[in-house]
Amino acid sequence: MATEVAARNELDVAGEAALYAAFRKFWHPVAYTSAVLDRPQRVRLLGEDLVIARLAGAVRAFPDLCLHRGSALSLGTIENDCLRCAYHGWAYDADGRCVDVPARRELSGRINAVLRSFPAAEQAGLVWVCLEESPLFDLPELPELDDADFRVLEGPTYDWATSAPRRMENFVDFSHFAFVHDKVLGSRDNPRVEDTEVWRDGAMLRFERVVSEPGETHKKELLGIEAGTMNVLNEYRLTMPGTIHLKRTFPNGRRYILMMAACPMGPRSVRSFWFQARDFAREPEHDAYLMDFEARILEQDKPIVESQRPEHLSRDLSVEMHVRGADSVSVEYRRWLVELSRP
Ligand code: FES
Ligand SMILES: [Fe+2]
Repeated sequence: MATEVAARNELDVAGEAALYAAFRKFWHPVAYTSAVLDRPQRVRLLGEDLVIARLAGAVRAFPDLCLHRGSALSLGTIENDCLRCAYHGWAYDADGRCVDVPARRELSGRINAVLRSFPAAEQAGLVWVCLEESPLFDLPELPELDDADFRVLEGPTYDWATSAPRRMENFVDFSHFAFVHDKVLGSRDNPRVEDTEVWRDGAMLRFERVVSEPGETHKKELLGIEAGTMNVLNEYRLTMPGTIHLKRTFPNGRRYILMMAACPMGPRSVRSFWFQARDFAREPEHDAYLMDFEARILEQDKPIVESQRPEHLSRDLSVEMHVRGADSVSVEYRRWLVELSRP
């Protein structure tokens, strides 16, 4: 028995490394678009410190390391569409080329110093970076940002001490609602989780379910719903490997969107970016309650998810136990992760 456990742990170590390495092939969120303004910013992705900056009209991403003496470029400034190092003033243009060496201006433009550029893009209110040349999938979308029917709010980021896949799996884990979010998203009186059909659609894992949920009194007031328990249609679009778009449609047709994009900062460190959007009670005075609602849900999840061991999802499906039907989303998610992590 002990040998078997040891063997499984070894498999885990190899599996974790393969999954983690595979993440380099994907776009990951690193910042809100709204936060990338006139100063360079340090972000961390897959164990690497990067600097992002808006230069010549587009967001660029480079290692956060000056080629002269290795100081952090994120401490520098943006001048004339160049990133200027805070230490000795070397300036790099939008392509990462050093174009100014203040201590010897005659060298400017002639010195062979070019920062490595990573693919960077802006979409869905976020800055995305890929550590390899050609990202495997397209960027996720948040169509509600351009839909006048919706009021969209940007949530404060939150960091959890676990892997990005564990964090994602928590979002799409249905059988915890009745326990961790009793009386809010689920009820211990009705913990059963019906089978969920899960299918792939391009870069997305898709699934939907109708849930009967208690709902908080105030939320129901905002929705204009009186029933004690309401049936909510939840449609999920999980863009692999770390972004989820959930559209909730209430019995009166009103919609609420929750989008979460998880950034694997390290193997056991994940930063979540998120938005909420609603087409009801759009007056700003209701923002605080709805933001606070999500914050309370996250407070309930955090200690549970951070307690999970190991922190990564195993590449070997037999390492943990699965409940047929109830765990089908996470099983399909793991299967796809394993496929994507094959060299
Ligand atoms: S370390 Fe950046 S200019 Fe010297
Ligand atoms: Fe939860």
